[in-house]
Amino acid sequence: MGNLALIFLLSQRGRLAAVAVAAQNDQVRQGAGLFATYCSVCHGDRGEGTAQAPRLNDPRFLAGVSDDLLRATIAQGRPGTAMLAWGQAYGGTLTAEQIGHLVAFVRSWERPDTPVGVLTTLSGRLADSVEGGQETFLLMCSGCHGDDGGVPVGTKQIVANAPERLRQQTDADLRQRILNGGSEMPGFGAALSPAQVDGLMKYLQSWPR
Ligand code: HEC
Ligand code: HEC
Repeated sequence: MGNLALIFLLSQRGRLAAVAVAAQNDQVRQGAGLFATYCSVCHGDRGEGTAQAPRLNDPRFLAGVSDDLLRATIAQGRPGTAMLAWGQAYGGTLTAEQIGHLVAFVRSWERPDTPVGVLTTLSGRLADSVEGGQETFLLMCSGCHGDDGGVPVGTKQIVANAPERLRQQTDADLRQRILNGGSEMPGFGAALSPAQVDGLMKYLQSWPR
């Protein structure tokens, strides 16, 4: 994450210490990869549940379950069901550290105001959807541009969602702008996953032009 972006996050939205955010985000990222490999086949890509297994991204479920209980459930499984014991201590394949990453990822579905995971936003939307892009915009961009991109910014008082400006920019221009910023705008390439960039693109493309 560039310094400008980091300062922005801290000043505008930062409710956690920067170091904690970075460490947490790394755990969430690793947990997302593990979840996609081992869990999503039954619980769904975003923990939304399938015919095989219950929903996990339910705020009520998450509010009622402690990290310890989540860890224990994943490690020990539920005997007599398709939920196997995943912990190495119980004959499974995952280390305690990996289970910790999974818990961090599952938890990330209930926090609307910390940096987002890789494939899903914190509220469980696909990061590369219009809705996911809007959520990323609210988190990363709205502090300067306003919630819908309509606030004039910079010395030239540029309005990001102005149709006449949008018409002048190709998709490549927009992507470049998100990744590398502009003369007065920080770049976000280091702070966003490819799926988040795709979602932002879809959201910006949905604006009237
Ligand atoms: C083969 C299908 C399958 C896979 C793969 C699977 N689960 Fe499950 N999981 C289930 C089922 C079925 C249940 C419900 C068990 C029961 O009835 O108590 C469950 C329950 C759970 C619960 C408790 C939910 C609750 O409502 O109490 C958690 C947490 C969980 N799984 C996490 C995971 C994680 C993390 C992984 C990946 C490491 C995973 N599961 C992989 C089938 C699966
Ligand atoms: C720290 C403030 C700040 C943040 C955060 C920010 N921008 Fe900007 N943005 C600017 C400024 C200032 C300009 C105009 C000057 C420039 O080009 O640098 C701008 C211009 C733009 C433009 C208009 C380009 C044009 O020429 O019409 C778009 C589109 C845009 N930003 C998108 C985004 C997106 C998407 C994000 C989030 C990933 C974002 N911005 C985050 C400050 C910001």
